[in-house]
Amino acid sequence: MTTVTASEAAYVVAALLFILSLAGLSQHRTSRSGVVWGIAGMVVALAATVGLASKDITATGLVLIAVATAIGAGIGLWRARVVEMTGMPELIAIMHSLVGLAAAFVGWNGYLDVDAELTGSLLGIHHAEVFIGVFIGAVTFTGSVVAYLKLSARINSRPLTLPGKHVLNIGALVAFVALTVAFVARPNMGLLIAVTVIALALGAHLVASIGGGDMPVVVSMLNSYSGWAAAASGFLLANNLLIVTGALVGSSGAYLSYIMCKAMNRSFISVIAGGFGTPAAAADDGEHGEHREISAEETAELLRDASSVIITPGYGMAVAQAQYPVAELARKLRERGIEVRFGIHPVAGRLPGHMNVLLAEANVPYDIVLEMDEINDDFAATSVVLVIGANDTVNPAATDNPASPIAGMPVLHVWEAANVVVFKRSMAAGYAGVQNPLFFRENSQMLFGDAKQRVEDILRSLDALDAPVREMAGTTR
Ligand code: TAP
Repeated sequence: MTTVTASEAAYVVAALLFILSLAGLSQHRTSRSGVVWGIAGMVVALAATVGLASKDITATGLVLIAVATAIGAGIGLWRARVVEMTGMPELIAIMHSLVGLAAAFVGWNGYLDVDAELTGSLLGIHHAEVFIGVFIGAVTFTGSVVAYLKLSARINSRPLTLPGKHVLNIGALVAFVALTVAFVARPNMGLLIAVTVIALALGAHLVASIGGGDMPVVVSMLNSYSGWAAAASGFLLANNLLIVTGALVGSSGAYLSYIMCKAMNRSFISVIAGGFGTPAAAADDGEHGEHREISAEETAELLRDASSVIITPGYGMAVAQAQYPVAELARKLRERGIEVRFGIHPVAGRLPGHMNVLLAEANVPYDIVLEMDEINDDFAATSVVLVIGANDTVNPAATDNPASPIAGMPVLHVWEAANVVVFKRSMAAGYAGVQNPLFFRENSQMLFGDAKQRVEDILRSLDALDAPVREMAGTTR
């Protein structure tokens, strides 16, 4: 068997491993094996690619590839080890930006280094691939960089609303099509520079125009773009595995975005087109009335007298690492015969399944952790809801205020319960930058401070409330 045939056969194996990986990642139970299949697929793919290219590469070239692979793998391992769960979306976003940048470079290289054997219509197709590859790569690059900056709170997550923003986006797309036709007819560097600049600006503008609440969809959409960018590079490099892998990432990312849009009642087209067709965000007049505060001791008393409790965790629980005392609180309340359940919003936290992972880590039983649709009708019959570090996902403005930037997003109907206790450190807005009228409702009270410390305070207060009962039991024995 020649090296080329062996490498092509290895490509088929790698593609199958990637498909197994996607299948494994689609469920919590099998996600670990999904990751292992993915790693195995990537090892096979890298080895086969180097094998395939080895016939044209000098020994020095092979050493350079080995060094580059070691550096890349080292950086990847380091980042993966140190990243917090809450920082995963921004890590993913910055990685997508590298895929986009690589695709744009491959496109530029395809223009600068044209295969002399390409003539006629094949040359035209090659130049179309160059142009499309550079365009998708550059859009993905700046879009992902802006997503990274928003997710890591280095820039404001509010949507940018330039005058005539949709005209700008559509204008950029029309210019891309016109320039592609011109470039295929008469390739030149001026047109390639022009499309690179337009695509860089379009990527940044599309993502900057999207509000914080829609960022999960954008991250998954950028994942899809990075896949199509890789597929475009695959065509240019005549690399079948890159085409297959790019198409897998592109289509699965697009499908995930579609599912998330459905879950959040967002228009798929609107989100990928930078908020096209969504109403402008209403200015927050700041008139929400007075909020009331509650202490940890009072919350413990409220819980002691409750018959049913629902805990709705959010990003703040993850930041505070409060899942362990929260699990302990749930256990203690259940021991007292109080019905305790968790209500999980599909985008609570910063990545899909974020809260489920944290609660599983703290050994909260699966059967009391319910999805939003399973629990939303039960709030009205609940004595106490503990909102632990959640904000946007429990914001009634999403259902009550059609002018709100998060209008239409399904939320947990916590305000329907008899009592709501909101754990947070201040009156600051949530991720989407929208004020939350829940905090000012008559049945809501704020428990300020770090969520972990406040839950621990409640645990101590519950013990203190139990102490006289224990003493009484001791004396009557
Ligand atoms: P957020 O709206 O992000 O609000 C979290 C709240 O936690 C903040 O209001 C903050 O208030 C509080 N907090 C932060 N640190 C805290 C601490 N140590 N102790 C107590 N409270 C603390 O949370 P959410 O309801 O989970 O909503 C998630 C948001 O993220 C949505 O807008 C969603 O679209 C977006 N998003 C989600 C994802 C995915 S896929 N899940 C990805 C990217 C973005 P203080 O500062 O006052 O404490």
